[in-house]
Amino acid sequence: MLKQILIAVFLLLAGKSFAQQKQSTIRPGELWKDDQGKHINAHGGGMLYHKGTYYWFGEHKGEKSNNAYVGVTCYSSKALYHWKNESVALSVDDSPESLIYKGCTIERPKVIYNELTKKFVMYFHLELFRRGYEAAYTGIAVSDKVTGPYQFLHASRVNAGYWPINLSQENRKIKLKADDYGKWWTPKWREGVEQGLFVREYFYGGQMSRDMTLFVDDNGKAYHIYSSEENLTLQIAELTDDYTRHTGKYIRVEPGGHNEAPAIFKRNGKYFMITSGCTGWDPNAARLLVADNILGEWKLYPNPCVGTGAELTFQSQGTYIFPVQGKKDAFVFMADRWRPSNPIDGRYVWLPIKFENDLPVLRWMDQWDLSVFNEN
Ligand code: DGJ
Repeated sequence: MLKQILIAVFLLLAGKSFAQQKQSTIRPGELWKDDQGKHINAHGGGMLYHKGTYYWFGEHKGEKSNNAYVGVTCYSSKALYHWKNESVALSVDDSPESLIYKGCTIERPKVIYNELTKKFVMYFHLELFRRGYEAAYTGIAVSDKVTGPYQFLHASRVNAGYWPINLSQENRKIKLKADDYGKWWTPKWREGVEQGLFVREYFYGGQMSRDMTLFVDDNGKAYHIYSSEENLTLQIAELTDDYTRHTGKYIRVEPGGHNEAPAIFKRNGKYFMITSGCTGWDPNAARLLVADNILGEWKLYPNPCVGTGAELTFQSQGTYIFPVQGKKDAFVFMADRWRPSNPIDGRYVWLPIKFENDLPVLRWMDQWDLSVFNEN
C-alpha cells in the first residue's frame, strides 16, 4: 500500500514538473528553450506557415560577434509555444570567394513559399566579409524543402537601372551628386534626400537594401520591403513570379523618414507596416504606416505601442508580423531585444496585435497565450 502511495505521489510530482516545463505560454523577453533545452538562436527572424506547421527562420548568433559563422537557422512548431530545432537552413560558405563567406553578416532572413515553382525562397540582408555595413546587399536562396538546405543563388543591391515609380520626372533629372549637397543633416541635404539624391547616386549600381522583410499578397504577388538610401528611406519592390528577382517596379516610402525593421501585414484589405527608427542596436519608438495599396500611398500614424515601455517598443525592435492560423484578425508582432555584447543571448519579444479604431495597438504582456485572440 505504502509503495502504491509513493508511486502515485511520484507520478503526480513528475506530471506537474513536466506540465511546468511544457507551459503553453509566450513570455516576451525571457529565455526561450528549444526541444534540446537551448535558448532559441533565430534572431531578426521571420515566420512561414506551411502545411500545418510554423517555421521560424532567423540569424544564428554567437557569443562575441554579430557576424555569421553558421548561417540561417530554422525551428518548427505546431502551436507556437514549443519549438523543435530544425538546424541550419542556409549555411555560410567556407570559400573566401563566396559572397556568403563565413564571417560575413547575414541579417533578418525571411522565407516565402512559391506556389508556381513549389520552392521555398529565402531573402536576407547581406554584408560582405570585413566590409562593415557598406555593401547593403540582398541575398537570395532557394530550397525544395522548407527546412533546407537552401542553395544560395545571388546577392547584390537591387533594382539597378530602374526608377521608383513615385519619383517625379523632375527629380529623376536633377544633376546634383551626393557630394554637391555638402554636409549631412542640413536643410539643403534633407531636401536633397527627399528629392531622391541617393536614388540617383545608386541608380546604375542598384539601390541599397538593409533591414528587410517579405510579404506575399492574396493574389500571390510578393514584395521585398527594405531600408534603402543610407537607411533614410524605405522602398517596396515587386518580385518576379518565381520570387527570385526584382521586377524593377518599386516605390519609395517616407523619404528621409529614417525607418528600419519593417514588418507588414494585411487586414480587411488594408496594409499595415510597423517600423522602427534608426539607433543601431538600441531600441527606439516604433512607427505605424497604413496604405490601401501595397505600392502606396502610405500614410504615417503615431507609435502603435501604448502603455509602459511603449516609447522604446518594450526594449525591442520589430522583425516580422504573422497571422495566427485558424483565428480571425489574429496577428503576432515579433521583435528582438538585442544584446550586442553577447548576441546569442538576445531575447524575443512577441506580442499580440489588438485593434482599436481599426488600427493596430501593442501593449506589454509578461506572458500570454493564443486565447488573447478570442477577445478580438
Ligand atoms: C539595426 C538593425 O535593425 C539590425 O538588424 C542591425 O543591422 C543593427 N542595426 C546593426 O547596428
